[in-house]
Amino acid sequence: MKIVTVTGYKGGVAKSTTAIHVATFFSELGKTILVDGDPNRTSLSWAERGSFPFSVVSEKQAMKSIGGNDYVVIDTPARPDTSDLQELATGCDLLILPTTPDVVSLEPMLQTASDLGETATFRFLITIVPPYPSKEGEVMKQELKQSDVPIFETLIRRTAGYQKAALAGVPIRDLKNADLRKAWRDYKEVGKEILEILK
Ligand SMILES: Nc1ncnc2c1ncn2[C@@H]1O[C@H](COP(=O)(O)OP(=O)(O)OP(=O)(O)O)[C@@H](O)[C@H]1O
Ligand SMILES: [Mg+2]
Repeated sequence: MKIVTVTGYKGGVAKSTTAIHVATFFSELGKTILVDGDPNRTSLSWAERGSFPFSVVSEKQAMKSIGGNDYVVIDTPARPDTSDLQELATGCDLLILPTTPDVVSLEPMLQTASDLGETATFRFLITIVPPYPSKEGEVMKQELKQSDVPIFETLIRRTAGYQKAALAGVPIRDLKNADLRKAWRDYKEVGKEILEILK
């Protein structure tokens, strides 16, 4: 069983969206469960509106439900506290830290990375990246790389597809609109990177 936790020190940076789409990727490979530890219950209510290719449970139901799964994805609320982050990191195989590409995020990210240090397996994921000709996503990635911060190569583009998917209660992969569905490729690439890390 592999456990991937999605967290971060900030709200609204696509933690829940990332957890849902990483779980969708895993569901194509094995039995997958998403543990919704977000007090907003984002994933649970998304799933209630439609259908997910994996099961979703609350934190309280997790103990009873995770046995027998190949992949466990845990969604969490924002954790500003470093000791919380360290504790989370030791409880999983990979910690994913979504972040949006803005300069104000850079300093806290560097701090988080140095706090987590060598003890944890973690990667930052740049999400909600504005489209070309904006270079914000790429610039942020290069800056983090230069600071030796572990980061996914794949950037998650900004698209209205995620709101549409949330309304429909499905992952973006299952939208009827082919144009919106295209963005699924981003999380698929992230999924491949995750498999390399979990090897
Ligand atoms: N790639 C994207 N492009 C456009 N909008 C996005 C993208 N990813 C997420 N969003 C939107 O951004 C908002 C926040 O996303 P989400 O709920 O996943 O963030 P979160 O980090 O889990 O927030 P919270 O801290 O409240 O739990 C949602 O409205 C979501 O639809
Ligand atoms: Mg959330």
